[in-house]
Amino acid sequence: MRLFIVSNRLPVTVVRRDGGVEIRESVGGLATAMKSFLEATDGGRGLGFREVVWVGWSGLRAEVEGEEVRARLRERGLLPVPLSEEDVSLFYEGFCNSTLWPLFHSFTVYTVFERRFWEAYVRVQQRFAEAVASMAEPGDLVWVHDYHLMLLPAMLREAVPDLAVGFFLHIPFPPPEILQLMPPQWRTSILEGVLASDLVGFHIHEYVNNFLRSVAKFLGYRVEVGVVHVGRRRVRVGAFPIGINFEMFHNSALSPDVQTAAEELRQRLRGLKIVFSIDRLDYTKGVINRVRAWERFLREHPEWRRRATFVLVVVPSRTGVPQYDAMKREIEREVGRINGELGEVDWVPIIYISRFIPTPTLHALYNVADVALITPLRDGMNLVSKEYVASRRDCRGVLILSETAGAAHELVEALIVNPNDESAMVEAIARALSMEPEEQCRRLRAMQERIRQNDVVKWAVDFIKATVEAYGEAREAAAS
Ligand code: G6P
Repeated sequence: MRLFIVSNRLPVTVVRRDGGVEIRESVGGLATAMKSFLEATDGGRGLGFREVVWVGWSGLRAEVEGEEVRARLRERGLLPVPLSEEDVSLFYEGFCNSTLWPLFHSFTVYTVFERRFWEAYVRVQQRFAEAVASMAEPGDLVWVHDYHLMLLPAMLREAVPDLAVGFFLHIPFPPPEILQLMPPQWRTSILEGVLASDLVGFHIHEYVNNFLRSVAKFLGYRVEVGVVHVGRRRVRVGAFPIGINFEMFHNSALSPDVQTAAEELRQRLRGLKIVFSIDRLDYTKGVINRVRAWERFLREHPEWRRRATFVLVVVPSRTGVPQYDAMKREIEREVGRINGELGEVDWVPIIYISRFIPTPTLHALYNVADVALITPLRDGMNLVSKEYVASRRDCRGVLILSETAGAAHELVEALIVNPNDESAMVEAIARALSMEPEEQCRRLRAMQERIRQNDVVKWAVDFIKATVEAYGEAREAAAS
């Protein structure tokens, strides 16, 4: 059996540079998790797959991608689906990131409903279906990922008979009251598209329930706990909270590269307590709320000025979508204002980095940060919180986490805050910076144990096994 992983973005992103091309690791929870899974299972062979093919977009416009880039990707077991300039604008920036992303994160005022976007959403997924169909054979397993490809399971059923299909959503699924804002024909196609799978997975039960309630409300199908009855077909629906490669992060402190980078950081920031966060630049991540909470903390607790600094890393993302560009400018303005108003010649309140940082630096930051301030406004899961906790081999550090992140359902020993409650954020920062080492360790140990047990390999294996089981059941039902 072969495994097809299908996601909008491939695990690598190709960028044109100085006339040549550069192949970079893709960022974001989906790519990170699937790469960890493939590494840990010897490219899927450890699970009995004879081959794994990853189907997706290279990140380049088709007009400049060229056959040579495609050939290089194919050599790595990646099957590129080219997106033209128009596809990028209407499909990726349009329906995916101006319609589905804001709506599913409940940012209804940012949501744009445009017929041209929808048409591109259908058209591009047909091409993904053709790409998979050009290689897949009956009996293969196709794992479709995320909001970019919600029509794909249904298209695959048409194109190739007898595939095992699993669909996993990496972002929240909204309550039906929010989904109802979408034109009826689109939301029906999306729900039906996903329901063509044998198994549909979400991070947490809340999203499962939202999905089941939407299916009952808009399609009228009978739903039970974990099952949708689509005529005679039963579709399994379940919660599969995504994990991380625990051992990799837990062992990072042992790597000489990370130790050197951590030592350097400690030297440079000598004596200062470090509050840290890293996110893709996205309005869902609550960066502005966080920066303002930090400002208020410094104003209300002046004794911490010169004793603590906030290292704020924001990795650029989706440039070209208006809200993202506007948000970047707003963060820059706020950070500049706060550093100007509160900074001293020998101390800055916020060290702001707005670019991709190399892995050893990230691991070093996880290892030296006294506090991780992870406060998205809404987040499907949030892997950074898990990575920080896993990294603390020394059993030091405090995680402050939003109740609106999927991870808050598992990481209950974090200091849980509402990201819109500025006073609560200020209080949590003060508490975190003064927490006794014993309490830090007690909280971390409990979370580490849970993250260790529910790592990314378990997540992927559980999902794949459940897809195979659901597929087996569906075949039996069809034969009877
Ligand atoms: C989130 C999504 C992923 C996406 C990632 C990065 O994690 O769930 O599907 O790949 O963000 O966003 P981008 O638009 O750069 O692919």
